[in-house]
Amino acid sequence: MGDSSRAATVEHHLRPGTLQLAALPPLALYVHLPWCLAKCPYCDFNSHEVSATGLPEARYLQALRADLEAALPLVWGRPIVSVFIGGGTPSLFSPGGIDALLSSVRSLLPLEPACEVTLEANPGTFERERFRAFAQAGVNRLSIGVQSFDDALLERIGRVHDAQQARAAAQEARESFQRFNLDLMYALPGQSLQQLQHDLDTALAFEPPHLSVYHLTIEPNTPFALNPPPRPDDDLASDMLDAIAARTASDSLARYEVSAFARPGRECVHNLNYWQFGDYLGIGAGAHSKLSFPHRVLRQQRWREPAAYMKQALAGQAVSNEHEVARDALAFEFMLNALRLREGFAVNLFVERTGLPLSSVEPALQQAERHGLIERDASRVRPSSRGFDFLSDLQQLFLPAP
Ligand SMILES: C[S@@+](CC[C@H](N)C(=O)[O-])C[C@H]1O[C@@H](n2cnc3c(N)ncnc32)[C@H](O)[C@@H]1O
Ligand code: SF4
Repeated sequence: MGDSSRAATVEHHLRPGTLQLAALPPLALYVHLPWCLAKCPYCDFNSHEVSATGLPEARYLQALRADLEAALPLVWGRPIVSVFIGGGTPSLFSPGGIDALLSSVRSLLPLEPACEVTLEANPGTFERERFRAFAQAGVNRLSIGVQSFDDALLERIGRVHDAQQARAAAQEARESFQRFNLDLMYALPGQSLQQLQHDLDTALAFEPPHLSVYHLTIEPNTPFALNPPPRPDDDLASDMLDAIAARTASDSLARYEVSAFARPGRECVHNLNYWQFGDYLGIGAGAHSKLSFPHRVLRQQRWREPAAYMKQALAGQAVSNEHEVARDALAFEFMLNALRLREGFAVNLFVERTGLPLSSVEPALQQAERHGLIERDASRVRPSSRGFDFLSDLQQLFLPAP
């Protein structure tokens, strides 16, 4: 796309409309690196097994730069509050490649001085010098996909690493990064409550400032969906969640979101921005963006297949589709995110991010209150414990009328 047609596109997004946003939300940058050593049988992320010929690192980095340059007019002058390099397995990229990527980002976008820069890492790629070099490149938060510290469970879920590598990666994160996160999954095939407790104890021994704990979900069209392994039943899974809540609380990690636990002040800036219905520019294969303008909210997606993405991005056409969020879908989209937070949302935030008055959702709020799913006062709405447990029922109340 040439400069004049890009300018025309921006004009188009800036045209008047019925929506009126008083202020634009904070803006984050997401960078998707879509390759992994092997595809895990439960995973439906846009991730692809790296081929025998290796990663097309240089070409992909060029494509990312072209993608970002083309997107700049949509976010002109807006400071970036967080950069998240996710995947896939970003730690497969060389530290030099990550350094080049962050240099491009810094040269093209104004990063806030305290900008959080997260990189996702898989323990199967762990090497001490490599992880240290990521820190030198400007990564200031590492998120490690541990999943479990039990060799048998790791093997059952098809991970490329063992417990020893997971411990070594966590130890290095602790030594080289002030801010780091460990990802665990629970309700794994054949997992007992004792095994979960062992995973929690091991994770917490590294004193992580942040912990994410996900219930293993069986995603359509994955090998686990086609051939489901036996998993803990609902009662055991619910006991496991109780154990997770109790054990994290005893270590001063607060459950601030459905699956996220943090020490005070160590919440993930990037994810918090999603949950507070902030804006994000997503570059890289299959990445999603949400961008607000004074009179509309735009969603975009990039080409999903890495080869197609690189070709299209290098031709200035990284976006495969985009649409404006319908005015009557905004409240539901806001609630899908904000009600995931333990503290819910400030009424002012709802108004600021959606441009709608709170009265537009008053009937749904009253219904949620009658069912004991929310608690509220004049300034805040938060999910009750029951609302937190039956979150999708609560969120459905805000669906636009058919
Ligand atoms: C995009 S992955 C990135 C981390 C890295 N790719 C890895 O797996 O080591 C983020 C996290 O999502 C979680 N996850 C992925 N698939 C899941 C599933 N089917 N059910 C529950 N959690 C899942 C895992 O805990 C994983 O670490
Ligand atoms: S390493 Fe992570 S992104 Fe890659 S296949 Fe496994 S779960 Fe998916």
